[in-house]
Amino acid sequence: MRMSSVLSFLALSAFVLAGSAAADGNRPAYENPAEGLNPSYYAQSCPGMEGIVQRVVKEAFDADYTVAAGLIRLFFHDFAVGGCDASILIDAPGSEREAASSNTLRGFYLIEAIKAELEEHCPRTVSCADILTAATRDASREIGVGYWPLKFGRKDGLKSSKEAADQYVPMGRESVTDLIAFFESKGLNVRDLVVLSGAHTIGKATCAAVKPRLCNAKPDTLDRKYGDFLRRKCRHRGYFAEYERVELDGETPTTFDNVYFKNLERKMGLLESDQKMLHDSRTRSVVQEMITEPDEFKHEFAMAMRRLGEVQVLTGDDEGEVRLKCSAVNKY
Ligand code: HEM
Repeated sequence: MRMSSVLSFLALSAFVLAGSAAADGNRPAYENPAEGLNPSYYAQSCPGMEGIVQRVVKEAFDADYTVAAGLIRLFFHDFAVGGCDASILIDAPGSEREAASSNTLRGFYLIEAIKAELEEHCPRTVSCADILTAATRDASREIGVGYWPLKFGRKDGLKSSKEAADQYVPMGRESVTDLIAFFESKGLNVRDLVVLSGAHTIGKATCAAVKPRLCNAKPDTLDRKYGDFLRRKCRHRGYFAEYERVELDGETPTTFDNVYFKNLERKMGLLESDQKMLHDSRTRSVVQEMITEPDEFKHEFAMAMRRLGEVQVLTGDDEGEVRLKCSAVNKY
């Protein structure tokens, strides 16, 4: 993501910021982040909503634990363009799903399956944005992140743009300055950036995403053995195999723990942008704090995910709709 992109986004953003986030961890004072959201939103109209989401996510997780990583990333990509409005789920020509950053996104089928079940129980009631938010919370819980309570009432967005996703979704080569600016444009701060990047303690990346790290790393920022391992792993019949996949956390890839941060200290961060967070004075102290306080990391991750889900939500009837299928806007 280019700095100019971030700045133009800042200028264009409809999100009302009354102050900018400070690197000292102070929360930005922005107006009514979750105005219109309510913990009891479905209490009358769809009382079983949270239970249904939780059950379907658990069944999917029991069959394949990697759905958790898939959903967490899907939720982040939705947030990244226009906030939590389920715009990432729209499957149409020119939509966010066609962006390069969406190539390996997973979990669409699961959200659609939950939606179909909820449509049977409470037709035209539960938005896809609320389903994605709840499913991500429940998947996070399955992998050991603490529970966080949710507010509901998000409407589904009417637009989804490949161009916007190409411009704003970080791909792994960004500078720390760009990433901070991006998070601040959403009302989140440096601490949120570091803590949420801890999601890379699970899941995989393609070798295409690892390439910049292998090509650009100064020797003192990439562990030699780890670099050799990655080069071997990303080679097939003598060629660089872009589609091959590598664990984001090479030490404990299936456990949600703080080893992702320890890996940065060992020069074993997989993505270039991740490793940079150790070497930048604005992010280093938070990385080090997450290394010494593993429980704090899990707690803060849950709280930051909760905030993520309240960014730029659409709540007015004139702002969005409740889609009938998550992959398409309604036709009237
Ligand atoms: C801050 C900047 C971030 C960058 C540059 C970034 C970049 C990436 C990249 C390049 C991949 C690998 C994609 C592939 O090659 O298939 C990835 C995977 C992943 N990202 Fe991020 N990410 C960022 C933040 C986040 C955040 C905030 C979250 C969640 C809160 C997140 C969750 C994940 C997860 C769980 C995966 C693994 C997905 C899977 O296994 O399918 N990322 N990220």
